[in-house]
Amino acid sequence: MEVKNKIVIVTGAGSGIGKATALHFAKHGATVVVSDINLQSAEKVVQEIVTNNGKALPIKANVAVFDEVENLIHKTVTEYGQLDVLVNNAGIGPHLLRTHESLIKDWNAVIAVNQTGVFYGMKLALQQFLEQGFGNIVNIASLAGLKASPNNISYSASKFAVVGMTKSAAMEYATKNIRINAVCPGYTESALLTQLINAKPEMDNILKSVIPMKRYGKAEEIADAVVWLASDNTKFITGQTITLDGGTSL
Ligand SMILES: NC(=O)c1ccc[n+]([C@@H]2O[C@H](COP(=O)([O-])OP(=O)(O)OC[C@H]3O[C@@H](n4cnc5c(N)ncnc54)[C@H](O)[C@@H]3O)[C@@H](O)[C@H]2O)c1
Repeated sequence: MEVKNKIVIVTGAGSGIGKATALHFAKHGATVVVSDINLQSAEKVVQEIVTNNGKALPIKANVAVFDEVENLIHKTVTEYGQLDVLVNNAGIGPHLLRTHESLIKDWNAVIAVNQTGVFYGMKLALQQFLEQGFGNIVNIASLAGLKASPNNISYSASKFAVVGMTKSAAMEYATKNIRINAVCPGYTESALLTQLINAKPEMDNILKSVIPMKRYGKAEEIADAVVWLASDNTKFITGQTITLDGGTSL
């Protein structure tokens, strides 16, 4: 995949899909800014990349705080002179409560990270992209951003918003050499999924029963699609969502 020498930021890259994506970009020759709210986990991923002769830099950023996202982009451009790709991956939730039982604090937290965090990243990266004349954004949405996802109101709202932001902004910048796409993973092995199954162990069988492939996705399988969308192999693709769900949406 053609991402060699690209400068890439991955948010929430200390774990799960973000970590797999950072490792995959590095394997294909990109320089990766591994960003996470948890600096220690970001540093571990950087160590792994460097051990394998890749190039990476850890930067702590909470995507829900505008100044921290601004600092992330500013530091990256100061260090490398440009930004080729932003992967908006950091995400939290879901909380598995019916809508009338949902807690306001959970709603606010999920929207702040999954929706407003993606907006901050897009706004700031696009400013840089317009200045330099190129750029690429890949947003990590979810199957929950395409289809009903009961007992999941804030997560569902945030992921439908990510799909909407991806499509609307893709049209705005289509003539500016800037592409914006999203991936929509189904149930994928990660800390987020483990947390969900730990909270309700009966969910393991229920979830697998609705996946035609009868297994969860692997973070590396999602990473593959993210790197492909960010690469020069997909120059005519913008505003699209790619669903990776073992057939669940069928
Ligand atoms: N795992 C799944 O089944 C699944 C399915 C569909 C979509 N997704 C999406 O994929 C993305 C990654 O999820 P994952 O499953 O790898 O989860 P994960 O919990 O393994 O990783 C999430 C990472 O984001 C970081 N993070 C959390 N809040 C942050 C913040 N405010 N700022 C910066 N970093 C923050 C965490 O520290 C962690 O390293 C999320 O957007 C999630 O909604 C996951």
